[in-house]
Amino acid sequence: QTGHTTLDYGFVNTASTKSDITYIDGDQGILRYRGYPIEQLAKNSTYLEVAWLLIYGELPSASELASFDERIRRHTLLHEDLKSLFSALPPTAHPMSVLSAATAALSTYYESESDPHNPEHVELNTVRMLAKLPVIAAYAHKKSIGQAFLYPDNSLGFVDNFLKLNFGVHSEPFEANPVMTKALDLLLMLHEDHEQNASTSTVRLVGSTGANQFASISAGIQALSGPLHGGANEAVLQMLARIRDSGESVERFVERVKNKEQGVKLMGFGHRVYKNYDPRAKLVKESADEVLEALGVSDPLLDLAKELEQIALEDDYFKERRLYPNVDFYTGVIYKAMGFPTRMFTVLFAIGRLPGWLAQWREAITDPQTKIGRPQQLYTGAAERNYPGV
Ligand code: SDX
Repeated sequence: QTGHTTLDYGFVNTASTKSDITYIDGDQGILRYRGYPIEQLAKNSTYLEVAWLLIYGELPSASELASFDERIRRHTLLHEDLKSLFSALPPTAHPMSVLSAATAALSTYYESESDPHNPEHVELNTVRMLAKLPVIAAYAHKKSIGQAFLYPDNSLGFVDNFLKLNFGVHSEPFEANPVMTKALDLLLMLHEDHEQNASTSTVRLVGSTGANQFASISAGIQALSGPLHGGANEAVLQMLARIRDSGESVERFVERVKNKEQGVKLMGFGHRVYKNYDPRAKLVKESADEVLEALGVSDPLLDLAKELEQIALEDDYFKERRLYPNVDFYTGVIYKAMGFPTRMFTVLFAIGRLPGWLAQWREAITDPQTKIGRPQQLYTGAAERNYPGV
């Protein structure tokens, strides 16, 4: 193949994406956002501060962060007409489908302000997405449980406003539990970016065609919904519940995974890049113990997850394949303890990932080297041949 380097296993080397945003060392289990280790950010920063860091490249000053927070609060309202989209969808609609549909619909309200090459439009729609995605997510949640939507409360911080939109009801006062606020802020932060994962690559690919942020993010949400990607956090809880309800021993389940029965996988385990413990999974596991204890929730599924992890980490099948818990393995147990329905778990992943999607989209469309996405192909089909009779 002219112009391609072929690697020792003969495949064409597809061009890799250049980025300044996130660094991962899969063998060492290292994750850094703009050079800052995830462990330090987890301990000292917040979701919004890290969102600024990912999007603008540096940690914000106190006044920059305050004005960022204020601008986001000013954009939390959805156009009133958009609410009718939610009633047009069936009550059984998966919240991820609702999230993607409503995000795509957002762009119909801002078509005259969505030129990807107009910095003001890019800035405005970055703030609009950060402000409105959590509201759309909460509406998807309320729709799925048949409860009335609430309006955002701009007197509250980002996470508390989101918790109120999800768990508040008109007839009752709402007070966010600070344990939940702190834990959810951490979980959202841990998901903010992860270099060129499938959904981020989707956002960059769609953005490379000149499509606007809303369209690109809507596509990224759909990519994230797959059970091998963001949908894994929902699939982990379903897997744990199935083991519990079946009465099957964990050891027996692990044997079925190793025998690859009907494609059974240990959801929440394995990773394209991490061949070591996912540093985010470590932080989530620590948080799980704290949150459940503080909320006074004891969940046998957490104990089951720990038992499953213990057995897998000691088993050669998983060790040989370098399979370790990833970010999705423990998050669901915490979301469940907070009161989120299982089908909202991947929606929470999407809100977490949004700043990374926006940062990566902006990096792609402002890079003069960016060409329209077109992954290279290795043709393995039929050689030239003639039509019968020709
Ligand atoms: C996320 O890319 C990102 O950064 C993603 C993400 C992010 O932040 O954006 O980190 C978020 O998506 C995390 C991953 C969530 N997905 C899951 O937990 C689903 C379960 N995991 C697998 O489907 C799998 O591990 C992948 C898809 C995540 C990674 O697959 P790989 O690296 O391509 O590994 P593979 O499919 O080539 O498997 C290698 C071997 C195979 O066995 P053999 O054929 O060699 O005998 O490991 C086995 C696989 O069968 N294997 C598993 C397994 N994952 C891989 N066996 C059992 N259970 C698993 N989970």
